[in-house]
Amino acid sequence: MHRRPLTGKPLFPGLGKAYTLGGFSVPSEWRDYGSRETLRLEASDTWQEFMRLYRTFVKEVCAPLCGAERLVFQCPPTMRIALPGCPATIQAHCDSEYPAHWHGEVNFWLPVTPVFGTNSLWLESEPEKGDFHPAELGFGEVLCFNGFQCRHYTCKNETDSTRVSFDWRAIPEDILRLVLACESTFPFHSGTAPLPR
Ligand SMILES: [Fe+2]
Repeated sequence: MHRRPLTGKPLFPGLGKAYTLGGFSVPSEWRDYGSRETLRLEASDTWQEFMRLYRTFVKEVCAPLCGAERLVFQCPPTMRIALPGCPATIQAHCDSEYPAHWHGEVNFWLPVTPVFGTNSLWLESEPEKGDFHPAELGFGEVLCFNGFQCRHYTCKNETDSTRVSFDWRAIPEDILRLVLACESTFPFHSGTAPLPR
């Protein structure tokens, strides 16, 4: 992607940001995104088809991996693009350090480019174990991991490859009900949606 000429303002705002972080000069209009552009993106056939595929993927792949019929999941997923030279996009953390996360969550990471070395997500295999290693995946593979408790981070991309990935969190609906029953508030937020039947 980083070898292709820059043409036209991207539909997805993160693309311009990715080029900037990768050290490319982009037209000033690429930094100007507001609600109008968001509406344009969400109304596009491309986005709607992507979201349809995403929901189907969660239902047909993620739910069985979680051993659940119904999931509550992040919607839309987070799309990340890291060109060669891009600095670390996230520092070491577990998701439990942030609000609106719950015990029982499962993290999904779906790169659509090969990921390896510094061009990947680094994570520990168990909470507090500290044995950080890069996930090595090819196209068509998805990683699920315990990001609620296990630390994870990215590095400066020192490879010659661009990384494009989607990530999201999901939790079986039954487990979420149990968790929320133990809390005094009901912290649903607008970024989640129940799995369609
Ligand atoms: Fe995280």
